Amino acid sequence: MPEQSFADALNEQISNEFAASQQYVGAAVYYDAETLPRLAAFFYRQALEEREHAMMMIRYLLDVGEEVRIPDIKSQQTSYGDGSAPVKMALEQEKRVSDEIFALFELARATKDYRAEQFLTWFVKEQVEEVALMGDLLNVVERSKENLLLAEDYIAREKLGEEGDDPTAPPTAGEE
Ligand SMILES: [Fe+2]
Ligand SMILES: [Fe+2]
Repeated sequence: MPEQSFADALNEQISNEFAASQQYVGAAVYYDAETLPRLAAFFYRQALEEREHAMMMIRYLLDVGEEVRIPDIKSQQTSYGDGSAPVKMALEQEKRVSDEIFALFELARATKDYRAEQFLTWFVKEQVEEVALMGDLLNVVERSKENLLLAEDYIAREKLGEEGDDPTAPPTAGEE
C-alpha cells in the first residue's frame, strides 16, 4: 500500500494550487508595474483559475467526508530579469503541476479509489491546456522581446486564456 492517503496527497495539492495562484499574482504585479496591462490581466486571470482549482479540491474533500487543511501563505516573486522570465516560470510551474496531478492519479489507481480517479480526470485535461497555453505565450513573448507591446496586441486579439464556462468542470467550494 502507498504510504500516503489520497486525502493527504490532495491536501498537499491544495497548497500547491494556492501557491500557484499567489505566484501568478506576483507575475501580474510585475507586468502591471511595467505598464503591460494585457500581460498583467492574463496573469491575474490565471491566479483566479488556480484558486478555483484549490476550491474544487476543497469541495471534493468535503463531499467525501475528509479533513481539509488550509495552508500558510508563502511570499512569491514580483521582480524578474526581463519580460519573458515570468512566462518561463509559468511554463515550468504548469509542467510541474502536471506531474503532480499524474502522481495523484497513480495514487488513486493504486488505492482503487474510483471517486478520486474520476475527480482527477478533469485536471489531466486542464493541464494539457495550461501547458499548451503557457507554451504559446512563451513563443509570443520571446518573439516580442524588443517590444512587448506586440505580445500585448496578441493577447488582446486572440483573447488568450479567456475561456468561457466549462460545464464539465468540478464544482468549487463556495459556489452558488
Ligand atoms: Fe491548477
Ligand atoms: Fe495552472
